[in-house]
Amino acid sequence: MESPEIFERGNWGSKIAFIFAASGSAIGLGSIWRFPIMVGLNGGAIFVLCYILSVFFIGFTVMLAELTIGRHTQKNLVGALKAIKPNTPWKGVGFMGIITGICILSYYSVVAGWSAGYLYKTIKGAFRGEVTWQASDAIFKTFAADALAVLIFLFVIIAITTFVISKGVKSGIERWSKILMPVLFILIIILSIRAITLPGSETGLSFYLKPDFSGFNLNVLFFAVGQAFFSLSLGMGTMTVYGSYITKKENLVSSAGWVCFSTTLVALLAGIIIFPTLFHSLQLTPEQFKQDFEVGTGIMFQAFPIIISKMPGGYIFGIMFFSLLLIAALTSTISMLEVPTSYLVDEKQWSRKKAAVLIGAGSFVLGIPSALSNGGVPFLTKLNIMVVMDLIFGNILLALGGVLISVFLAFSWKVKNSLKEISIGSKKFRLRSLWTFNIKYLAPVVVSLILVFIVMKNIL
Ligand code: PHE
Repeated sequence: MESPEIFERGNWGSKIAFIFAASGSAIGLGSIWRFPIMVGLNGGAIFVLCYILSVFFIGFTVMLAELTIGRHTQKNLVGALKAIKPNTPWKGVGFMGIITGICILSYYSVVAGWSAGYLYKTIKGAFRGEVTWQASDAIFKTFAADALAVLIFLFVIIAITTFVISKGVKSGIERWSKILMPVLFILIIILSIRAITLPGSETGLSFYLKPDFSGFNLNVLFFAVGQAFFSLSLGMGTMTVYGSYITKKENLVSSAGWVCFSTTLVALLAGIIIFPTLFHSLQLTPEQFKQDFEVGTGIMFQAFPIIISKMPGGYIFGIMFFSLLLIAALTSTISMLEVPTSYLVDEKQWSRKKAAVLIGAGSFVLGIPSALSNGGVPFLTKLNIMVVMDLIFGNILLALGGVLISVFLAFSWKVKNSLKEISIGSKKFRLRSLWTFNIKYLAPVVVSLILVFIVMKNIL
């Protein structure tokens, strides 16, 4: 007979498995590639502060909402909305999530492809010896503009993602991420220690960590909220599907807390590596940086080879870093493709393989303009397709999805019903009243106001 102790341990083990799977989705290029771009473009530390507040007050709130809806219905977002409120337009929020997911997958895979390209370059020894900013910048620009190479890498990323999803080898992915995520974490810590011990790192750290409150405006807040949604995989149904795999024994509140915490930590550490390295290498003051430096989509790919070239054993560190980045990116692309696939499988009875291949092929085609918009084709570069896609889908639509999910939970399904679901597995929910306030008012109202402001500013 099973002793209570073994039973308890088994229970705990499955919670950890969930946290790893959900963190695998959350931690990825969003924290390591996108976060530093946003910090660089939005005034440094003030953005970091807004991001942390957004994760705590809005990200955590919506994450718990999605997990609760998912576990309660054991379904994907469209199915869940249909199950709770049949024959209402609410399922449209689920469809919006599916479209958003496919669009994010398309350009995210381009950047995942860059990571694969950088792994290849590192193995070939492209970053041996001292790497200067100028050299690193030139390597990135030449690579990103190489149309054939980026398209091949894009294809490879989407093919791997499709293969994994079509097989449904969830357990394999979980086993991988359980070992590899902690290794990535340790590596990032080692790299950050090296970065903060570089001469001149203080200027980088002060840009990154000392907020200049005069730089605050609604734009900064908009991008911080968008980054919180993006990095936590919220607003399109990913966490609903992941929540649908959680058993009733588990504590949703602490699971959500852990995923938010670990993702934020990785993002913060990524910044600790990138900014001191950049400032060291460019010899700029924070003011010069804000005025003269053009933060582009390649900032991470430009900074990492520099720091790696400054470490003993840098060749091996480089290979490890880009391999792990690639895996972190793949655990995220897999979670994006899972959203449309689980819809077609559950609701339309398609085979997993057919659904994954079709959506994968669609995302590849959709990704071509983004892939070629970084120097590959001049007019696509001018239109800045990848940045525009990221603005529309990665910021606006994820945030809108988050607002609608909050409104759905709070006013259609009702907070008291969701609290019943949450209390299974977490008897003491100490943040109950804060969460109730946030899901009813703070998240929907604040995020809607920011969205209205941004849309009016850009369109009118
Ligand atoms: N959170 C992922 C990352 O930071 C990206 C993602 C967004 C994944 C939305 C799923 C859904 O890399």
